[in-house]
Amino acid sequence: MATATQTVAVDPNVNHFVAKPRRLLIGGKWVDAASGKTFPTYNPATGEVLAHVAEGDKEDIDRAVAAARAAFDRGPWRRLTPAERGRLMWRLADLVEARLEEFAQLESLDNGKPVVMARLADIPISVDTLRYYAGWATKVEGSTIPLSMQPEWKFLAYTLRETIGVVGQIIPWNFPMVMATLKLGPALAVGCTVVLKPAEQTPLTALLLGELIQEAGFPDGVINIIPGYGSTAGAALCAHPLVDKIAFTGSTEVGKLIVHAATGNLKKLSLELGGKSPNIVFKDAEIDSAIPGAANAIFFNQGEVCVAGSRLYVEDAQFDKVVDGVSKIASSLRIGPGMDTTTQIGPLISQEQLARVCGYLESGYTEGAKAATGGKRHGEKGYFVEPTVLVNTNDKMKVVREEIFGPVVTVMPFSDVDDLIAKANNTPYGLGAGVWTRDIKKAHRIAAELRAGTVWINCYGVLDPAMPFGGYKQSGWGREMGRQMLDLYTETKSVCTPIT
Ligand code: NAI
Ligand code: MG
Repeated sequence: MATATQTVAVDPNVNHFVAKPRRLLIGGKWVDAASGKTFPTYNPATGEVLAHVAEGDKEDIDRAVAAARAAFDRGPWRRLTPAERGRLMWRLADLVEARLEEFAQLESLDNGKPVVMARLADIPISVDTLRYYAGWATKVEGSTIPLSMQPEWKFLAYTLRETIGVVGQIIPWNFPMVMATLKLGPALAVGCTVVLKPAEQTPLTALLLGELIQEAGFPDGVINIIPGYGSTAGAALCAHPLVDKIAFTGSTEVGKLIVHAATGNLKKLSLELGGKSPNIVFKDAEIDSAIPGAANAIFFNQGEVCVAGSRLYVEDAQFDKVVDGVSKIASSLRIGPGMDTTTQIGPLISQEQLARVCGYLESGYTEGAKAATGGKRHGEKGYFVEPTVLVNTNDKMKVVREEIFGPVVTVMPFSDVDDLIAKANNTPYGLGAGVWTRDIKKAHRIAAELRAGTVWINCYGVLDPAMPFGGYKQSGWGREMGRQMLDLYTETKSVCTPIT
C-alpha cells in the first residue's frame, strides 16, 4: 500500500487549477457555456469529482467555429510568416516544459496514469511533438512539374501546398496531452485554425495548455478549446458546415459516426481508431527481451493504448516459458493510485471502462478462457483491474476478436507460419504488430505480410512524431505523424502557364 512518503504532494498550482470551474476558450477569451452548464471530471483512483468544467454544446461549437473561421479568413494568423508560426509553437513547447510537473500531476489525477509515466513520457513527448511540428512550419513545400502534353509550348507548372482551413479535432482520454499536441502540431505548422474538443473524461491538461497558448501569444481564435460530450459538442463539430476537416482519435464505432456526420459538406477526415494488434514471438527470439517486451506491450498505460499488443502469439516450443514469464511480470506490477510514485498500474479511466473490461473477462471465462494470472477487479474503490494473462483462448472468442482496452492479454500458441499470418491478419483492425525473432529475413518477410500501419521488430510500441502512424482497415484513415501529415492538413494546388 502507498505510504505518505511515496504519494506526491499536489502542486499548489494544480490545486488552484482544479478548485474553480474551468471554462471554454473561444476567440481568445475564457467563457462559460451558453447553457451555463458544467460537468464533472473524476479522479479514477477514487471515483471522486476532481473538477467541474463548462459543458460545451452546439451553440458553443458554433461560436468557436465562427472564431476559428474569422481567425483563418481575416485574422493576423494568415499574415504570420512560417518562421513566426514555428516560433510561437516553439514558445508554447517551452512554456509547457517549464510547468512539466503541473501537467504531469494534472494528467495523473484526471486520467489515473502513474505520475512517474506522465513525467517521463506523456509530457516530455508532448513538448517534443510541438517542437517537431514547429520545425515543419518552414518546410511546407510544393514542387515543379515537367509537362509533356503540349510539346509545342513550354510550360511552367508547379504545386502549392495550401492550408486546409478550419479543423475540428476530437481526442480521447488515454493520452490526453499527447493527443492534444499531436493534433495541434500539424494543424498549426501548416497554418490551420482549430476547434479542439478534449475527451469528457480528461479535459484538464488541454485547458491548462489553453492558458499557455494565450501566454505564448497565439492570435485570438487560432486555437479554441471546447470540452463537452461526444454526442453533443463532438457531433456538432463534425456536422458543422464551416469546418473543413475533422481529425479524430478514438473508437472505431465513433469513427464511423463521424464519417456519416461529415457528409453534409464532405469535410476531409483523418481517423486514428482502435486496434487488436498481434504480437508474435518465434522460438528463435531472444526470449529474455521478448518476455518483458510482450508484457510492456499490453500493460503500459493500463492497456489503454490503441496499439496495445493484446493478441500474443507464441511458437509452441516457447509457449509455456512466455506465458510463465509474462504472468510473473503481470503479478509483480504494483497497482495503485497514479499519484503514488511506486505505482506501475493505475486505475482504468472510468466506471464504464471498468465495467467493459470486467465484462470482457466474464465473456472470456464463459467461452473457456482461463486466467494464468490476474483476472478480476482490484479493490473496491477506484477503477482498478489486475494485469491479466488469458490462456486457453482461440480466434473465435470475443476476447481475442474485440478491443478490450485494458490490461488483458490473450496468449495463443502457433506452429505453422502461414497459418499464423492468416490468424494475425484475421481482424477488422490493422494498427500495430510485433515480431520477435533473431532471423532477420523472417522478420522482414513477416513485417511485409502483416496488414498493420506499424510493425515493430524486436521491440514494441516505439513511436516518434517523425514516423508515420495510422491504421489499415478499420483502424483508420491517414497517417498523422511525419511528413505524411501534409497530405491531411494541406490541399495541393496545381498552377500552370505557358512560358513561350
Ligand atoms: P469514444 O470514441 O467515444 O471517445 C473518443 C472521443 O470521441 C471523445 O472525445 C468523445 O467525446 C468523442 N465522441 C464520442 N461520440 C462522438 C460523436 N458522436 N461525435 C463526435 N465525437 C464523439 O471512446 P470511449 O467511449 O471513451 O471508449 C470506448 C472504447 O473506444 C474504448 O474501450 C476503446 O476500445 C476505444 N478507444 C480507443 C482509443 C484509441 O486511442 N484508439 C481511445 C479511446 C477509446
Ligand atoms: Mg477524469
